[in-house]
Amino acid sequence: MSVLRLGIFVSGRGSNLQAIIDAIEAGTLEAEIAVVISNKPGVPALGRAERHGLTSVFLDPKSVAGTPDPRQAYDRKLLEQLQHHRVQLVVLAGYMKIVTSVLIDAYESRIMNIHPSLLPSFPGLRAQQQALDHGAKVAGCTVHFVTEGMDTGPIILQRAVPVEEGDTEDILSERILKEEHGLLPRAIRLFAEGRLKVEGRAVHIRDA
Ligand code: GAR
Repeated sequence: MSVLRLGIFVSGRGSNLQAIIDAIEAGTLEAEIAVVISNKPGVPALGRAERHGLTSVFLDPKSVAGTPDPRQAYDRKLLEQLQHHRVQLVVLAGYMKIVTSVLIDAYESRIMNIHPSLLPSFPGLRAQQQALDHGAKVAGCTVHFVTEGMDTGPIILQRAVPVEEGDTEDILSERILKEEHGLLPRAIRLFAEGRLKVEGRAVHIRDA
């Protein structure tokens, strides 16, 4: 049987990318990273990909500026890359750009995102700070399938993390991040094993 081919989208540090690489190298995740794509040049995530001998691409959003719908045009370029590398599952690992229907239609229920909150609470940017501002006592992280709308798709896995007295955005983010690094490879593994079934908003996990 062929191994699941992943396309990982990144925008920055790439610690979630690293968690996926580590899980594959440790043999706890049976998958192959076919391509890493960044919308930002020179980010640490691209360096990680390079160090592990992975194919990586920086796709410049400016290359489609001035076209009638730049966001869709950009996603068409992404789609070309995904098809070229025969990607079966797209993983948004700290990818800070909203994907359009171009990708969502082509990869329905085959795009996953990791978000640092217990969705549907605190979608969007700086989710950890949002949790602190709200006075939440429990924070966490979510892996979900991507649909149109920000951070709104069917939830695959979540993990709760306590908010502690005196937490700053950095401290809370670090505590959540540790859990993200376990959660994302686990969600990919469930997909690779064919154990996820989407029904409406719910994702059912076979033999959970
Ligand atoms: C992670 O905390 C991830 O959950 C978050 O960005 C960080 C990326 O870190 N993603 C989002 O906020 C998406 N809405 P990383 O580059 O080290 O993986």
